[in-house]
Amino acid sequence: MSGRILLLLVVGVTIVSAESPQSDYIDELVRTERYSQRFSNDVKEDAKLDVPELIIKYKYPLEVHEVTTPDGYILQMHRIPHGRDKNNVPGTKRPVVFLMHGLLCSSADWIISGPGSAFGYILVEEGFDVWMGNARGNYYSRNHVELNPDNTDFWDFSWDEIGNIDLPIMIDYALAVTGNEKIHYVGHSQGSTAFLVLCSLRPEYNDKIISMHSFSPVAFMAHNESPVLNAIAPFANSIKILASLIGIGEILPNTLLLTWAGQIFCKDHAITQEICSNILFAVGGWNDAHLNTTMIPVIFGHTPAGSSVKQFAHYGQSIASKEFRRYDHGIVKNIRLYGRRSPPKYNLSNIVVPIFFYYSDNDPLSQSKDVYRLYEELGSESKVLLPLPSFGHLDYLWGIDVKPLLYDTVIQLMGVVEDQ
Ligand SMILES: *[C@@H]1O[C@H](CO)[C@@H](O)[C@H](O)[C@H]1NC(C)=O
Ligand SMILES: *[C@@H]1O[C@H](CO)[C@@H](O)[C@H](O)[C@H]1NC(C)=O
Repeated sequence: MSGRILLLLVVGVTIVSAESPQSDYIDELVRTERYSQRFSNDVKEDAKLDVPELIIKYKYPLEVHEVTTPDGYILQMHRIPHGRDKNNVPGTKRPVVFLMHGLLCSSADWIISGPGSAFGYILVEEGFDVWMGNARGNYYSRNHVELNPDNTDFWDFSWDEIGNIDLPIMIDYALAVTGNEKIHYVGHSQGSTAFLVLCSLRPEYNDKIISMHSFSPVAFMAHNESPVLNAIAPFANSIKILASLIGIGEILPNTLLLTWAGQIFCKDHAITQEICSNILFAVGGWNDAHLNTTMIPVIFGHTPAGSSVKQFAHYGQSIASKEFRRYDHGIVKNIRLYGRRSPPKYNLSNIVVPIFFYYSDNDPLSQSKDVYRLYEELGSESKVLLPLPSFGHLDYLWGIDVKPLLYDTVIQLMGVVEDQ
């Protein structure tokens, strides 16, 4: 435990001095009237409510669904089937959008900034049927038919399993319930990595996707600038060493401690908020130029939501190998599983869906050189690069101006692709 906290503190301290520029543009946006009537109405209360409680609090329709994977994980999905007001006609068939969170995160990512601001709510008001997945091991998907999270065996997975096993079962389930044939997919960070795993290992899933929107794409990591992931990369093949550095099996679960830290420590002092937003960097971003720091208590109430050490190890391997490959289990197990000594690359030419990449060089986890390589190697005929101005890793979720700069574009593009 102390090891983990130490890591967080080290990370926090190293970047406390980093400036977070808030542009005049953002100040101007915030002053304008169309930005009233939005947001969480009580960040401290919202830090303590879980996703279903939050959706109910803000008077949106909610469905909670559970699926069991072939290897026994029980995954919880949260659905907001329609909007509160103008679209409030239950039973009408709507396009389905499937939202998939990143490393250490959960379905909370898409709702905690509140109505009018969070993508989950914006999408339902625009007439979509929103399904939010939760990967095995996070706060909402910690059940298993046999194992429990205190057991190291429970944590024996990386994002390979999340893409190869969790995503297809969640997508098929959403299609079966809605009767739709296809979905739009939006993935942030690891949610985007897992999608690439899915469509390269199981190309039949290309047919179930109308469009893919990759927020902060993470696949090739040769130019990755995340200090945490770069620090563990040299040890990424030794789970034993990694475990002693960052925790056994699980890393950074959602704990009362962090909720407490978010509320007490990060509440309302400029300096502690600065430190808190830098601690958030452990989850993946620094210098989130657009981040709404008032949200920090609610962010800490929901994040980190739990991930396995192997998820980190797999990213570490990607940095070390400079390739986007399956998990490296070591020669003996690789031969048994893959029939070869080194892990095979994910075959990106198998991926043929219309795909949109949103990225920024201010985001340490998805540097443009790595995104260009991914773009080049993909099989898709429709693929579009959409660089964003100065977005940090978390701005895709909680940036003050994320709606005009990102969400409005995504919704527009979904409409265009659908009409074709
Ligand atoms: C930041 O978020 C809080 C809570 O959701 C909200 O009340 C506030 O208006 C937001 N601030 C800006 C500048 O967007
Ligand atoms: C990758 O997939 C393509 C078809 O999508 C195939 O032609 C190619 O042989 C595959 N490459 C490897 C190394 O398996």
